[in-house]
Amino acid sequence: MLRHALARSSLSRGASGRLGHYYSRRQASQLAEPKQPEVVTSEIPGPQSKAALARLSKLQDTRAAVFACDYSKSVGNYIVDADGNQLLDLYCQIASIPVGYNNEALLKAAQSPEVASTLINRPALGVYPPKDWASVLEKAYMRVRPKGLDMVFTTAHGSDANELAYKAAFMHYARTKRGSAGFSAQEETSVMDNVPPGAPDVAILSFTSGFHGRTFGALSTTRSKAIHKLDIPAFRWPRAPFPQLRYPLDKFSEENSVEEQRCIAETERILDENEMPIAAVIVEPVQSEGGDRHASAHFFQELRRITHQRGVLLIVDEVQTGCGATGTFWAHEQWRLDTPPDMVTFSKKMQTAGFYHTQKMVPEQPLRNFNTWLGDPSRALVTSAIVDEVLAQDLVEQARVTGAYLKSHLVPLAIRYFRVFNSVRGEGTFLAFDCTSPELRAELLQLMRMEGVNMGGSGDVAVRFRPMLTLTKAHVNVFLTRFESVLNKLYQKHWPR
Ligand SMILES: Cc1ncc(COP(=O)(O)O)c(C=O)c1O
Repeated sequence: MLRHALARSSLSRGASGRLGHYYSRRQASQLAEPKQPEVVTSEIPGPQSKAALARLSKLQDTRAAVFACDYSKSVGNYIVDADGNQLLDLYCQIASIPVGYNNEALLKAAQSPEVASTLINRPALGVYPPKDWASVLEKAYMRVRPKGLDMVFTTAHGSDANELAYKAAFMHYARTKRGSAGFSAQEETSVMDNVPPGAPDVAILSFTSGFHGRTFGALSTTRSKAIHKLDIPAFRWPRAPFPQLRYPLDKFSEENSVEEQRCIAETERILDENEMPIAAVIVEPVQSEGGDRHASAHFFQELRRITHQRGVLLIVDEVQTGCGATGTFWAHEQWRLDTPPDMVTFSKKMQTAGFYHTQKMVPEQPLRNFNTWLGDPSRALVTSAIVDEVLAQDLVEQARVTGAYLKSHLVPLAIRYFRVFNSVRGEGTFLAFDCTSPELRAELLQLMRMEGVNMGGSGDVAVRFRPMLTLTKAHVNVFLTRFESVLNKLYQKHWPR
């Protein structure tokens, strides 16, 4: 499919050699980012998108698909759909494109012999790692490791990262309890029936409206929407209240602080009184899928204090917040913790997944936290190129500055167009606002698309900004013009004078 798409595109004309059906680097550099969005169809999805999705729907469920994309023509901050509509992309594959479509440095890395070799000779990393795997890990992950965590476990995706972090937490918990004694005979027989003591009743505590993925363990800690969980058996693990704050945070600081204190006290109570012992607490720095809910650095400092006091592990889920968008490489850096989290999970913009940890999270026996591939070395090489780009171009700082600029414009717009949206919040470009109803949000997102800006929601009424780190003030200006035009359209339709 990709080969055909590229063959049809004018960009591939003249390409030759072994990688002739992919871009050469020279061609990639000729791909200039559009200056403006351009919408050429009277609706999105347009006819070509609809045809592609209709065909696809015979093979896969396409009901969540927004439009079909032409990745061969998408460049930088712009995504191009099957009809040739070019949209400024502020959603970026659910927050997971770090440095732009068809980024030249990434294209170069992807075409390297090293990537080709690990693609076609995919190693089972736990048993036959490539001889230079340590240096790949150093370049891709350890250069940007969270403070206090000096090891990394690579996995397939975000849910998997959390799932394997939970397993590490449970094995650590059992080892701490068991001391130097080995497994008992009773443990070894009972575990085959999935009952204690071999399969113990131990919990991961998560928060109301948190999202940690969709595999079984991860889903048991996900609390954002019932539809994700219905009909799936789950662990009977507890949940703690996440602060329901009012925005702007500084304006409501007193009542927000009371609310955070209430949540910390309740979390403490659960840690002490829950019938099932708790091995670890997992928390997102910003609850993303749950509706872009924030808490203060103080809340997280308190959470670290009460977990540390009790010897309960703290897992910070940076699957969505990690890799720079909040204005620091890891969002939890902004909490200035005295004691680092025990594990930090990542995926999305890193383009590979896993968790950072320390030696204490390594099980006593090998082959326990394990699977065939244990990550993907070809993608890890791309992660390394992403980190190169982020560091060389100072993109975390760019996200901080661009985000502040965007926020400074959104705040007055929220006052002026209060019937449509409120509660502007966030750091860096990791921003969001709430629409006044789910219906209005759906309308706003569709109108924005027709203005050439692709955006996405979270929770029931929030619109979240998840642009690339390469977003600039010029892109923000393009967005603002179109956003204001949509706001005026909504006012004219719903509240005509
Ligand atoms: C905070 C968080 N954790 C975990 C996940 C699950 O990641 P994946 O969809 O890659 O399994 C997501 C996905 O949106 C997420 O936002």
